[in-house]
Amino acid sequence: MPTARGPRLAIAGSGCQKPAAMTAPLPRTLRLTAPRALAGRVAVPGDKSISHRALMLSALAVGTSRVEGLLEGEDVLATAAAMRAMGATIVRGEDGAWTIDGVGVGGLLQPRQALDMGNSGTSTRLLMGLVASHAITATFVGDASLSKRPMARVIEPLSRTGADFTASPGGRLPLMVRGICPAVPIEYRLPVASAQVKSAVLLAGLNTPGITRVIEPVPTRDHSERMLRGFGAELAIETDADGARIISLTGEAELKPQRIVVPGDPSSAAFPCVAALIVPGSDIVIENVGLNPTRAGLYEVLRAMGADIAFADERVVGGEPVADLRVTASALHGIAPDPAIVPSMVDEFPILFVACALAQGRSVLRGLEELRVKESDRIAVMAAGLRAIGATVEELPDGLVVDGTGGERLAGGATVATHLDHRIAMSFAIASLACRLPVTVDDRAPIATSFPGFIGMMEALGAEQSAAGEPA
Ligand code: S3P
Repeated sequence: MPTARGPRLAIAGSGCQKPAAMTAPLPRTLRLTAPRALAGRVAVPGDKSISHRALMLSALAVGTSRVEGLLEGEDVLATAAAMRAMGATIVRGEDGAWTIDGVGVGGLLQPRQALDMGNSGTSTRLLMGLVASHAITATFVGDASLSKRPMARVIEPLSRTGADFTASPGGRLPLMVRGICPAVPIEYRLPVASAQVKSAVLLAGLNTPGITRVIEPVPTRDHSERMLRGFGAELAIETDADGARIISLTGEAELKPQRIVVPGDPSSAAFPCVAALIVPGSDIVIENVGLNPTRAGLYEVLRAMGADIAFADERVVGGEPVADLRVTASALHGIAPDPAIVPSMVDEFPILFVACALAQGRSVLRGLEELRVKESDRIAVMAAGLRAIGATVEELPDGLVVDGTGGERLAGGATVATHLDHRIAMSFAIASLACRLPVTVDDRAPIATSFPGFIGMMEALGAEQSAAGEPA
């Protein structure tokens, strides 16, 4: 059964009467406009992928780790709650840093209740890997979006280790994992380019005797590999004759506690970046953006479209390349990127579609079949929303063809459905800035899964929230 995702500010209560100003719930919908050019310096929150992994590996280390810049979005908080339920002590300090006392690899405890993963596919798939090689049983539940997402892609390899899975029809949540200890080490060639599947297998390998090997024909984000090494795991990476990466992890690993500084999330920075590109006259700086090459494909594609994005103060933070991005409004032209770039920007296509809708000429975006199994079917949902606001798009089985306006504003005015998908909500909030009438995003709540401060950050840059019917 999916868990509920109601409006977040509704105040439950019987006799406890609160003053009107405190009880008024935030509107569920969101409409952003740009009455002027965007300007200013902002910072985006910590990287979601790195934050999940920082909590998981710290919870498996022996001793106390400290994490600065952790993303405090709902997805990451779901991971924190699950690691607590399995024995780790996780505390947020007054200075905003998190301390984690780990249980040691092999030390995860049996959770007493189902692990509520909310909207988070990353929490679910990576934790399924961790549980698989511990002698514990865990049930995973999630919201309506997560309960539709395929889990067979992790069940299949993890079953080969000896772990046992009972899933809902179609290999979906709710599902139960009966872990096994000792598990059998496996060698697994990824049939889909998925960092989540790669990471689930590697994390299972942590408490498995012998060498667990993952072969990835197409490289995906490598945060797990970087961080496993940082925590002291023995991990070797080779490349075979066909260019596939062979990642070998030696279990039973002993992880040493770390101090981790999480860089800003390039997937979150994508939203203010495209906003500045499409609102005429804009000139902004986004500080501390992670630019790991396995994540930074969007910036390469936008630059190839004519975007003025400069990287300043390039440095290394927490073992990851980082820079401040200066973004200036630009005349964009259409593009047909090589599908090989898709894994390095897999979460950025919704906002890239928006940029393409305002570019000069045609964009052909293909190789995107994985987008259909994200928090929503991001090809279908973006195609429907873009059409509703006046863009010209054609949906393909594996992508989208977009005929851009050449910088002319889109009509806007419509209400778009977000389907519990944070990136759909933020993409249309940004598209609204380049429309004649504001776009109504039907549900702002999902934004909190990855970017709780999104609206405030856009307001700091000069965007405004508008009431229904107001011109943009
Ligand atoms: C993630 C990997 C990606 C991405 C997701 C986060 C991760 O999913 O879409 O938002 O942290 O490993 P896939 O690996 O399934 O493509």
